[in-house]
Amino acid sequence: FTPEKIRNFGIVAHVDHGKSTLADRLLELCGAVPPGQQQMLDKLQVERERGITVKAQTAALKYQGYLLNLIDTPGHVDFSAEVSRSLAVCDGILLLVAANQGVQAQTIANFWLAFEKNIQIIPVINKIDLPGADIKSVETQLKNLFEFNSEECLHISAKSGLNVEKVLDAIVERVPAPTANVEAPFRAMIFDSYFDHFRGAIAHIVVKEGSVQKGDKIRSYQNDKSYDVSEVGVMRPEMVKCTEVRAGQVGYLVCNMRTVKEAVVGETLFAAETPKESVQSFAEIKGVKATVYAGLFPVETADYESLKQAVERLCLNDPSVTVTPDASKALGLGWRIGFLGVLHMEVFGARLSQEYDASVILCQPSVEYRAKIKDNENIRKKRYDGMEEVRILDPSKFPEESDVDSFLEPMVKVRMIVPNEMMGTVNGLCSECRGERGEISSIDTSRLMILWRLPLAEVAVDFFERLKKLTSGYASFDYEPDGWQETRLVKLTILINGKEVSEFSQILPAAMARDRAKTLVQRLKREIPRQQFEVTIKACIGSSTKALSQIVIQPMKRDFSQLLKGNFGGGGMERLNKKLSHQKKGKERMKMVGNIQIPKEAFLNVLKN
Ligand code: GTP
Repeated sequence: FTPEKIRNFGIVAHVDHGKSTLADRLLELCGAVPPGQQQMLDKLQVERERGITVKAQTAALKYQGYLLNLIDTPGHVDFSAEVSRSLAVCDGILLLVAANQGVQAQTIANFWLAFEKNIQIIPVINKIDLPGADIKSVETQLKNLFEFNSEECLHISAKSGLNVEKVLDAIVERVPAPTANVEAPFRAMIFDSYFDHFRGAIAHIVVKEGSVQKGDKIRSYQNDKSYDVSEVGVMRPEMVKCTEVRAGQVGYLVCNMRTVKEAVVGETLFAAETPKESVQSFAEIKGVKATVYAGLFPVETADYESLKQAVERLCLNDPSVTVTPDASKALGLGWRIGFLGVLHMEVFGARLSQEYDASVILCQPSVEYRAKIKDNENIRKKRYDGMEEVRILDPSKFPEESDVDSFLEPMVKVRMIVPNEMMGTVNGLCSECRGERGEISSIDTSRLMILWRLPLAEVAVDFFERLKKLTSGYASFDYEPDGWQETRLVKLTILINGKEVSEFSQILPAAMARDRAKTLVQRLKREIPRQQFEVTIKACIGSSTKALSQIVIQPMKRDFSQLLKGNFGGGGMERLNKKLSHQKKGKERMKMVGNIQIPKEAFLNVLKN
């Protein structure tokens, strides 16, 4: 295929608007898969189970003499990094909107991502077969928000296949051919990479110049390494070997890259004989920063090594996570992992267990806070490496309050689309979450777009769940980072019979402390068994012993000495021994805090998200 006959396109949409279904239909129409197969592109088990797309996949389709490369993209807010990455390869996108739900928060976010990159956007209204489909009002929204004329919009049912060929025609007609020069020496960009247990790193590439074949010698620009190409091919959507991948095409390449770190996204690959000075490298695709951090530990401490390998491998496939080693007295060795958001974190946990058969504990997430250190050479030099501002990711590193000028917490700009009548409820929730209201505008006669600025810490916990519940699923939501804001931070500590248990310590805004204190104390009460004596659990702030929340666990009632006195008939001693040996076994699974036995599961259940 010459570049003029190639189209590189993606599909973007709000969650559930039908991307994967449309992709299946396109694949069928182009004969890439037999009819009736579902969700060909959603390969990960977690994607199939949750019906969401996490990892972007690609497929090469043949249609009327054209080669159409489909780049599938995820729809959820947390995965916008994957969306941006796919957009780097696309010359056009289908912006899919479900006719029964209309434009949603993520539709808007995706539109702007593509618009800013100057990518051709084709508006497609899907699900027109549904009784609740309201094509006219979706067209109005597309006009009001993005200035699309109704003539530009396609009307389809991805489910039944109605008008889906028109989508293919529109791609051929409206998406520009890639700029590519077949005659020049080989130059390509890595836009995704994947770790295969058998073959090592597999790089997904878009070839901009020349071509690449098995046996070619190539070099990488940033990492500056040389490789021998051992295989090239295209995704249909499964990997199909071919003799060469040429300029304008999207494909994959296997060479002797040992880690996916070498196949970093945005990396430039070029023919080994080209002098590096003359190579034009691609702009690095900026990695998105982690916003949510959580501890990750093996359920069984003995599984640490195998989990370590699983985490490393999974990270290779998911370059947006950051990993630092961590250790806890109760949970053993583990990691502190930075995620793009809460859903990202859940998906990571699910993939570890499904793809690597690992049982893990993911602790409750927290966000990164910062402290501005007082303008005092002495303090800064002595305790903070001379730094003006320090990051706080871990309660044990919480600075002395007297050293700090002010604390900062990360903020996000939240965009919600809600039915008019739910404005009050949604605004109530946001102001409860310490938000600051932004603009409210009508997107049509029945729905509003509401903007708020909220602390990420509030959004990270269960904001999405609460919003869904309060609006019976009618609200949609999306967020992006929006700077930092001064706040009062406190360290919440848990005292069990007066002794601090550091595993439970947390840093959080003072405004959230009371609620969190209550939850922690309640959970501990549920998890700690009665002891021979009274146990008091307190949640306090800093080194104060004044309780924000407190609970007492009454001592065990049964007195074993009664057993000896024969009150329970014969065999008292035997039964007592049995009971004691049972307890001893149990003790191995217990952790002692002072003289109090706490089952290991308690730590899991209390810290677990
Ligand atoms: P994410 O990957 O989570 O972003 O979802 P998606 O956009 O890929 O949506 P998906 O294709 O999984 O479709 C979501 C649901 O809508 C599925 O139950 C589909 O069967 C259904 N659906 C998709 N297209 C149509 C359509 O044209 N008509 C009807 N009635 N249902 C559709």
